[in-house]
Amino acid sequence: MNNFNYSIPTEVYFGKGQIKNLAEIANLGTKVLMVYGGGSIKRNGAYDEACAVLHEAGTKYYELSGVDPNPRIDTVRMGAELCRSKDIDVVLAIGGGSTIDCSKVIAAAACYDGDPWDLVLDGSKIKAALPVVTVLTMAATGSEMNGNAVISDMGANEKLGTYSHWLKPVFSIEDPKYTYSLPAGQTAAGVADIMSHVFEQYFTTVSGGFIQARLCEAILKTCIQYGPVAIKTPKNYDARANIMWASSLALNELIGYGSGMPWTVHGMEHELSAFYDITHGVGLAILTPFWMDKVLSDETTPKFAEYGRNVWGLSDADDDMTTAKKSIECTREFFKSMGLPETLTEAGVEEKSLPVMAAKLKNTFKKTYVPLSEADVLEIYQAAL
Ligand code: NZQ
Ligand code: ZN
Repeated sequence: MNNFNYSIPTEVYFGKGQIKNLAEIANLGTKVLMVYGGGSIKRNGAYDEACAVLHEAGTKYYELSGVDPNPRIDTVRMGAELCRSKDIDVVLAIGGGSTIDCSKVIAAAACYDGDPWDLVLDGSKIKAALPVVTVLTMAATGSEMNGNAVISDMGANEKLGTYSHWLKPVFSIEDPKYTYSLPAGQTAAGVADIMSHVFEQYFTTVSGGFIQARLCEAILKTCIQYGPVAIKTPKNYDARANIMWASSLALNELIGYGSGMPWTVHGMEHELSAFYDITHGVGLAILTPFWMDKVLSDETTPKFAEYGRNVWGLSDADDDMTTAKKSIECTREFFKSMGLPETLTEAGVEEKSLPVMAAKLKNTFKKTYVPLSEADVLEIYQAAL
């Protein structure tokens, strides 16, 4: 196990009615920029409840709505401008990962003199940020507890992640009831995203991380247990609660401390979204089984067999290679059973773009679990087509 520094400063208010704690925002300032997406928060009650608490707490709030899934740098620019002109003290994100990511970079850009895209290209340029508070309405990205933000410049076909400890939310409200209104497709995409976050950390060549591996398996089993329940019965509180907490635990750094390494499938998915604006979790669900097929080898078979036995309960009687192959099939079938597409063609991706996307990643995966060349990436894209 490698050395690490534990730092997960975000306070989480988890459960029914926790929106009352949004009143704590008044300790961070009186002028709030409330950021949200296309309006789902007005249909699921989050907006009305948040406004009532903000009002009661004596804050003055301004609104920035219309954040797109795969949030755009132009929205960040608009938000940063609003922060300056209205002298905003704190940015409040109400929504899923897109709204939260956009809010984080707005908060940093408000304290930066140059163009906000600089901060997406290089997180080390973030030297300060307004405090960020979140009310989570979609379980998926973990953005509610981490310092990551992913922003797109669709004109340039760029979707890039940035990171700074300045971006970690001060506190997050996680009420699973806000996720009751998620359509089945978004619920499934969120579960696939959570599982992918775990895979990116579970499949590692760093040895000795026994506790990290077991934490990973617990989160995967939670997704497998409750993903289908939430799709079938959207208002099942325990299903929504377990998935929501899985979202936060999968990507708040905890499970990767001491054993993490650079990621693969996320980088490949970001190209799909940058060119075709597809839903993040959908792209991951399509690519993951094909990535697994590609990286399965004599060296990786024991890890895949461990995954098959501990997560899918596959029999000890089979040899490692048989179990490893079955584990990949279980993964593929699980995503399919949640109604997620199985091929890039179904998601609207065209063959002609595959070499362009692979070329953009030619130097990206040199130190990953299994290093991948441009040709390897292209092979995975083609297999997934
Ligand atoms: O815009 P609204 O109207 O809110 O609708 C959203 C959106 O259409 C809807 N939605 C959210 N909560 C809802 C709801 N609909 C009904 N009821 C609710 N309770 O769902 C749609 C998708 O929302 P979005 O925020 O885009 O989803 P998600 O949370 O999956 O975020 C995806 C973005 O986060 C990035 C992705 O790349 C993508 O840009 N990621 C961020 C990460 C991070 N910050 O750590 C890591 C991830 O790997 C990921 O890359
Ligand atoms: Zn993700």
